[in-house]
Amino acid sequence: MTKQSLSAKKHPETTLRNSASTGDSKEPQVPDYLVKTYWWAYLHPRSVQIFERQWIVNLILWGNFSKLRDSALDAIGQRISGRTLQVACVYGNFTQKLAQRLSPGASLDVIDVAPIQLENLQKKLKDRKNVALSRQNASNLQFEDNLFDQVVLFFLLHELPEDVRAKTVREVLRVVKPGGKIVFVDYHRPVRLHPHRYIMRPILRYLEPYALDLWQNEITSWLTREDPPVRVEKQTYFGGLYQKVVMTR
Ligand SMILES: C[S@@+](CC[C@H](N)C(=O)[O-])C[C@H]1O[C@@H](n2cnc3c(N)ncnc32)[C@H](O)[C@@H]1O
Repeated sequence: MTKQSLSAKKHPETTLRNSASTGDSKEPQVPDYLVKTYWWAYLHPRSVQIFERQWIVNLILWGNFSKLRDSALDAIGQRISGRTLQVACVYGNFTQKLAQRLSPGASLDVIDVAPIQLENLQKKLKDRKNVALSRQNASNLQFEDNLFDQVVLFFLLHELPEDVRAKTVREVLRVVKPGGKIVFVDYHRPVRLHPHRYIMRPILRYLEPYALDLWQNEITSWLTREDPPVRVEKQTYFGGLYQKVVMTR
């Protein structure tokens, strides 16, 4: 399957491709699950005002934001070359730190389905060179096959309903080159007797109805049989509450 590349040209500066302004009918709708479940976190204008604070995102991750961010970025490299895709915006300085690691000539694409999140990220990036933002659904990426050297998803999978999650995993494998890496950082089931196991279960069940899927299943369970990765490495953090999975295609 080959899809039209949205960003075949180099990125001279941060650009926001949002076809809302152009009336492009191919523009993805904000999915129902996001409206119903996460309006308070990502869609309401107040949500950006509230959550776009480094200390809040760090608190939500029990003080582990920087460690998990750096672990994800280190899996890609201290200096990042080639073309990188970040699937979905992240509150805090994740994307700025990623962009700082880009080597001359390297580029970063960030996609998100929510315009407010892309606008927020654009403000955070200011006029950073070689970063392009576009409005896309992770489960139906508008990039051609084998385009990216690496793809990163930071706490996205647990927010997706199972069918969207499976399609997203398939899509990121499609757009990464053979030999390229996909880095997932997300929730994971903590070890027995971990205090957060008992605190987080009701929180996640109440606020994030798809998140406990990541406690019950390995990320590899959403792979399809066609075109599996050649290598999968998993590491857990903070007593197992978080995981990093690196797939090499
Ligand atoms: C990466 S996730 C969670 C990140 C983390 N919890 C944080 O602190 O920001 C949040 C983002 O995913 C985006 N998102 C959710 N479903 C999506 C989808 N199907 N396609 C693209 N973006 C999606 C939301 O709009 C939101 O900006």
